[in-house]
Amino acid sequence: MEIAEMKSMFLETFGDNGGELRVFASPGRVNLIGEHVDYCGGCVMPAALTMKTTLIARKRDDDVIRLKATDLDILVETTLSTMHELKGKLKWGDYQIGVALELMEAGYDVGGCDLLYDDTVPHGGGLSSSAAIEVSTALCLATFANEKAGIEKEIDMIEMALLSQKAEHNFIGVKCGIMDQFASAMGKADHAVYLDCTTLKYEHIPLNLGDSKIVLTNTNVKHSLGSSKYNERRGECEEGLTALKTVIPGIQQLADVTVEQFEQHQNVIENPVTRRRVKHVVYECDRMVKSANAMKADDLKVFGQLMNGSHDSLQYDYEVTCPELDFVVAEGRKIEGVYGIRMTGAGFGGCTVAIVKDDAIDTFVNTVGKAYEEKFGHTADFYITEVGDGGREIR
Ligand code: GLA
Repeated sequence: MEIAEMKSMFLETFGDNGGELRVFASPGRVNLIGEHVDYCGGCVMPAALTMKTTLIARKRDDDVIRLKATDLDILVETTLSTMHELKGKLKWGDYQIGVALELMEAGYDVGGCDLLYDDTVPHGGGLSSSAAIEVSTALCLATFANEKAGIEKEIDMIEMALLSQKAEHNFIGVKCGIMDQFASAMGKADHAVYLDCTTLKYEHIPLNLGDSKIVLTNTNVKHSLGSSKYNERRGECEEGLTALKTVIPGIQQLADVTVEQFEQHQNVIENPVTRRRVKHVVYECDRMVKSANAMKADDLKVFGQLMNGSHDSLQYDYEVTCPELDFVVAEGRKIEGVYGIRMTGAGFGGCTVAIVKDDAIDTFVNTVGKAYEEKFGHTADFYITEVGDGGREIR
């Protein structure tokens, strides 16, 4: 929805009291490589999308918070002092409330406000629609809080990412890593964010894709992060780490374990399933330096091979794919001009990401689309993606 249209919808919904309408936006992300390693301290390489959450906001003089989405018939109305009671009870609006609570906990003097949301990131598609909502909300509420307190410093977007992640942990109950919120907050147009999830040091790597583009395929199988599988994987990683710590001194997290150390000591992890989970993390971390170097050298061939390796590891060792994702990957790989293709995000549904030569994109979309529909009886969606900027106020 255009901003002008959103503004009239805002006034229709919340009334016109002459107060200023402000606009904030924050994007979804695609992760190019480095999957299921952020919570093990590894490096990741997401890129911010141009699909985003746009938020129209107006301050209030009281402590009431009202939330509405352009495409939903739900209006959430609560107050700053009672909103914690809504935990687990909302159909929509919980990311916003979770973020507001974390900002208050961090000392921000959050005030009442009316907020209208418009999302272009598909929900449940593994493209971090939730991080887009969280980071845009955090930026808006922190900006208003600082203005109220007369503080004139710029909002620290890394802090916004961290508070958004906390909201997921504490209010939503998903023990996610920092990748999604960081990418949404710190993304840069035409660049990937190469992020070390232990130190939060990051680098914007130019995406010189030359004669190719990033193509996403949405299987339209909704992944449900909360449904325990994600937290289960985290638990398995913890278990593997505990076992490895008994034989490799000094390791703090799985990202510290080298491929050689894993190969030498893997048998200390008794459960073969846990061993495979750890294998994925160790090898995926190993792929990351190579991936960054390949992208910096504009070597899409090598980068694509690393993407393929990542998917195979997620399919067979980490087991977070699903038949639909594996099918798209297998079909995509048959097409000449596809450098690499893999699932992206948490998995169990959602999207694949591929780097496809311009002159092969039509073939990719048509061939994979047709085969997919024949096989599964429902359509896949394709997005030829541009890489956009991170969270910001739009003036
Ligand atoms: C989800 C989480 C991220 C990350 C990915 C998997 O998107 O929010 O923190 O763990 O899954 O790489």
